[in-house]
Amino acid sequence: MILGIETSCDETAAALLTGDGEVRASIVASQAELHARYGGVVPEVASRRHLELVLPVIREALATAEVDLPAVERIAVTRGPGLVGALLIGLSAAKAIAWARRLTLVPVDHLHGHVASLYLGPHPLEPPFLCLLASGGHTLLLDVQDRASFRRLGTTLDDAAGEAFDKGARLLGLGYPGGAAIDRLAREGDAEAFSFPVARVPGLDFSFSGVKTALLYTVRGLAPGELERRRADLAAGYQRAIVRALVERTREAARSTGARRIAVVGGVAANSELRAALGDAVLAPLAFCTDNAAMIASAGRYAEAVAYPDYLALDAYT
Ligand code: KG4
Ligand code: ZN
Repeated sequence: MILGIETSCDETAAALLTGDGEVRASIVASQAELHARYGGVVPEVASRRHLELVLPVIREALATAEVDLPAVERIAVTRGPGLVGALLIGLSAAKAIAWARRLTLVPVDHLHGHVASLYLGPHPLEPPFLCLLASGGHTLLLDVQDRASFRRLGTTLDDAAGEAFDKGARLLGLGYPGGAAIDRLAREGDAEAFSFPVARVPGLDFSFSGVKTALLYTVRGLAPGELERRRADLAAGYQRAIVRALVERTREAARSTGARRIAVVGGVAANSELRAALGDAVLAPLAFCTDNAAMIASAGRYAEAVAYPDYLALDAYT
């Protein structure tokens, strides 16, 4: 049994995975409500909350899987990238549990974790494939040839796709985090009522700061009271622009690399319009798109383990 721990941002998560990738428990305690009043994640607030939640969440994962700690043979934990104070809480918990039982520890890269959400049972994906990783912190096109690694083909030059969703939601008065709120509201709107251009940058990179600015100017230009009435149309048009940019670049990357299969992971992979537009792709299961520890445990099956006591010296990275 592998215990996965994830505390890189504002989700405190623990999961138990069997050696062959079957999820026995995946507990995610979201701090979204706690940060909503600030309009974004406050790092110090997140760290303190992780500290309160990390052991209860691990206990709950063990209880859900109906196993005791001695059944755990391997511990996988997110080492970075993320908020350093938040990461250190999960890393310290993992070190303590591993050290007490002289287990090995597997430090996991959060991005590798997102990709590894595709390796979870019951229908794990076998590389090679082209992977679009779109989350709150990253927008990447990855060439995946094996389960232990990937090669970066493109990235965002400014905002991540999820960040664009979150900033757009804020402009529309939809609160934080905004991706899911825009997704819901867009269903009632006319995506063609407003058109938002997305910059096309050279190569296989992305840029989302322009579309956010375009939304800002459109919202500013509305007559008083108009925002309320046109909010769904604005959400639909804005979402359409981001999704189109993601889909176009992903298809271009598939063409230029000759990839036969496309996979989509990360929080933005939960978006219903993106899922429909890339219906021929392998989509990460909804429950494992946004941050969770099952994907970290999954990556922990392929990443390199560090022996006792060497891992005690491991640091987090941002
Ligand atoms: O992967 P994730 O949980 O955290 C990071 O590693 O960043 O991604 C969170 C991001 C947020 O920006 C959130 O707004 C976005 O994923 N998101 C969505 C949807 N659900 C979550 N964006 C668009 N549509 C959704 N349904
Ligand atoms: Zn993530």
